[in-house]
Amino acid sequence: MEAIMRNMFQALGKSHSANKMAKRFGLRFGAARFVAGESIQQAIEAVRGLNSDGRLATLDHLGEFVFSEEEANESAEMCINTLEAIAASGVNSNLSLKMTSLGLDISKDLCLQNMRRILDCAKKHGNFVRIDMEDYEHCQITLDILHELRDEYDNVGTVIQAYLYRSEQDIRDLNGIHANLRLVKGAYKESPKVAFPEKKDVDDNYKKIIKQHLLNGNYAAIASHDEAVINEMKAFIRDMKISGDQFEFQMLYGIREDLQKQLVAEGYRVRAYVPYGIDWFGYFMRRLAERPANVWFVLKNFFK
Ligand code: FDA
Repeated sequence: MEAIMRNMFQALGKSHSANKMAKRFGLRFGAARFVAGESIQQAIEAVRGLNSDGRLATLDHLGEFVFSEEEANESAEMCINTLEAIAASGVNSNLSLKMTSLGLDISKDLCLQNMRRILDCAKKHGNFVRIDMEDYEHCQITLDILHELRDEYDNVGTVIQAYLYRSEQDIRDLNGIHANLRLVKGAYKESPKVAFPEKKDVDDNYKKIIKQHLLNGNYAAIASHDEAVINEMKAFIRDMKISGDQFEFQMLYGIREDLQKQLVAEGYRVRAYVPYGIDWFGYFMRRLAERPANVWFVLKNFFK
């Protein structure tokens, strides 16, 4: 049953018509638990709230399907507006983005052009931009673009997904440019040809690549709500005397708030990933796919 629901949410999240329809409804069905709002003002207020209890943020202007150069450029403009709003408000947040929303599926050049505009703005404000990792189809090109951008910018990093067989080799290759990486288990539905089908293997590989990246001396954002992983990493960091400025914990907005606050109280750097915007549906469906138990929470909101 859980597998059926997982597949259904993953398919819905990818459906253009479902995404389009959801936009017309506004932030509904309990999505506000995971999405900070539809406007930049609401998102900045959410970040202010996180900052007030010691958490940092990374803002993501949601927007996944882009079919024209014009839409890609508009999406880049939204990223720039987000960086400008962060600077103007003085909140402590960096930016996360998805390159498909900047035209990656239209052309690599268009995407690079938009990335440079965004990174120039981030640089002007002394800020950092994280390129989220999307599905396997976009993995190699994302890494190629990161390598190209790193020749020009030091304020950009990406994400490595532990469910991919290739991730261990990618960590090794990225050591060459001392990449600042967010390490995650992986959120997309992938074929067993490219990704570990068993959760235990993903969890094992996850811990392995985090340790590998930290021991290489590179910055790691450990992005997980898995307490067993977090506890093992805390012990590893302590035993290996990894400096507090070489890593941070990251979690998603609205998930395991208790654990986020506990880590802050213990003195760790914690950053919440804060999505906002009218294109909330695909993101929301991925969160439900990760944890179908959340669907009861959605149903409760649906009938409210
Ligand atoms: P796991 O799925 O094993 O969950 C461990 C526990 O966490 C669960 O038992 C539950 O208690 C809690 N939990 C997890 N998901 C929950 C949910 N949706 N609702 C409520 N509780 C939940 N992926 C990707 O492919 N590309 C990316 O760029 C990113 N970026 C990213 C940024 C940040 C800050 C985070 C935290 C995660 C991502 N991800 C991602 C998603 C990631 O790949 C993964 O799908 C989720 O983090 C869930 O995996 P966990 O590591 O939390 O463990």
